[in-house]
Amino acid sequence: MNKLITVVLLFISFLFFSSHVDHTNVLIHQYIGGELNPNLPDDPFNYEDQAFPEHIMFTDWGTNDTTILDLVTDHGATLGRVLFFDEKLSANENLSCGTCHKQALSFADDTPFSMGVSENTSRNSMQLNDLGWSNRTGFFWDMSENNLHDMIKLPLQNENEIGVTDIDQLIDKLNDTDYYPALFNDAFGDSQITEDRIADALTQFISSMTTFNSKFDRSKMLQDVLTASEYRGHELFVQNCEVCHTDGNSFFQFEGPEFFPFLFNNGLSETDDLGAGEFWGEEFNHLFKIPTLRNIVQTAPYMHDGRFESLEEVIDHYSEDLEDNEWTGEFLPIGGFQFSQTEKTDLINFMKTLTDEEFLENEKWSDPFDRSADDGNAKEIVQSVNLFPNPTSDFAIIETINPSQKMVEAVMYNSQGQFIKKMSSHNQQILFDVSQLSAGLYHIKLNCEDEQQTISLSVI
Ligand code: HEC
Ligand code: HEC
Repeated sequence: MNKLITVVLLFISFLFFSSHVDHTNVLIHQYIGGELNPNLPDDPFNYEDQAFPEHIMFTDWGTNDTTILDLVTDHGATLGRVLFFDEKLSANENLSCGTCHKQALSFADDTPFSMGVSENTSRNSMQLNDLGWSNRTGFFWDMSENNLHDMIKLPLQNENEIGVTDIDQLIDKLNDTDYYPALFNDAFGDSQITEDRIADALTQFISSMTTFNSKFDRSKMLQDVLTASEYRGHELFVQNCEVCHTDGNSFFQFEGPEFFPFLFNNGLSETDDLGAGEFWGEEFNHLFKIPTLRNIVQTAPYMHDGRFESLEEVIDHYSEDLEDNEWTGEFLPIGGFQFSQTEKTDLINFMKTLTDEEFLENEKWSDPFDRSADDGNAKEIVQSVNLFPNPTSDFAIIETINPSQKMVEAVMYNSQGQFIKKMSSHNQQILFDVSQLSAGLYHIKLNCEDEQQTISLSVI
């Protein structure tokens, strides 16, 4: 029997409350109405005048070329910052580059796959640091792009990332805001908005993201001292890992194509994702970009598919769980490194010295939009919830935006508060069969970890 259901979203403004938002929560901001303007300092932050410490400039591997930063201007990067965090860019105005690239996580995401415009991304979001100067030859996990400026147009247009399908429409939209014409003028000398200028400003912002202020850097500059365990961890790292995660005093990522392609596989059990093979051809199957290890503590989960939740799991992989394949044997011993427990702890302690707190908090790379100041219209929600009554079916559908696929429990009560039924799911949809319910008002309490929300449904 089909029922006509109407929905009363009684507590619509009573969205998920969250007393404690930790790193495992994916924050999705939703804005209803109201123009949100960025808060920018009167004088722009300093992006262009960055001093590179000596241990970064002059390495055992040669002198680093940092001239790319000459292209960065304070006004250009400021515009890039606004574009990076502006949800207006996305098709549904609910997503920005910053949604999947979060500053506190070194611009990575804390879920294996990020929720895009309509579905999860197929790979783990990548952290963004030192990309401008140290890492110019391969972008994306499959290293399919080799020019930062050009590749930035891809997430912009990718229908599941920012999803700009009509660039002219976007330009009109940006022209209509209170702030973009002036920001383009400051950055480029006139207020004309073009796709190239958008990509250019984003490139400047991303290129300005450098991280040289970790404990490890300070120890190189003789301003801090590694503990005995961190020191031993560094020794182990140099012996076993830096052949791929180049130390080079030190940016901890692949440099130089001379080993290509051997170094691009680290003995993970294979999946359908062919990595570089999808782009470069069969002989490159299952090869993936060697990621930087700077701020690595912040960027869990790890690997191109986010399969490891912790550094402990990563080290166990290298130690015992390596899967032999045509690439292993030379740089990765058959059967793994067989580290002792102390060695594992030392390696992890060393990796923890690569965290640069300043990078993770510096206001110049932060979200300039003050969501809370949006006339009370801004709602910061952990999950957004929609209820779809369907008069032609026996089911009401609760749809949650639940990118990290957490378990959501939905408990239904009648208007007297009596328990009716309970459903739970970590998928995006929970189906409630309402065919047997008598007419009346029902409340559905949704629980997800320590967050709750109540929605109401009236069955006629
Ligand atoms: C829906 C999530 C999502 C959004 C939105 C998004 N990205 Fe990404 N980004 C990813 C994922 C996932 C990858 C890895 C993709 C791959 O390798 O296939 C990535 C990779 C990158 C890389 C490559 C980093 C490297 O080390 O090679 C850059 C740069 C980047 N994104 C910049 C941006 C910019 C700029 C925007 C906004 C215009 C943006 N992203 C929006 C998820 C996202
Ligand atoms: C043969 C080259 C190679 C060696 C040696 C190597 N790695 Fe890796 N490492 C990689 C590659 C390639 C990836 C990315 C693999 C993927 O996602 O498919 C990676 C990924 C990682 C990651 C995850 C990074 C992220 O952002 O998800 C960590 C952490 C890591 N390696 C640490 C180490 C440590 C510690 C050692 C030494 C014990 C080591 N690696 C040795 C090639 C190597």
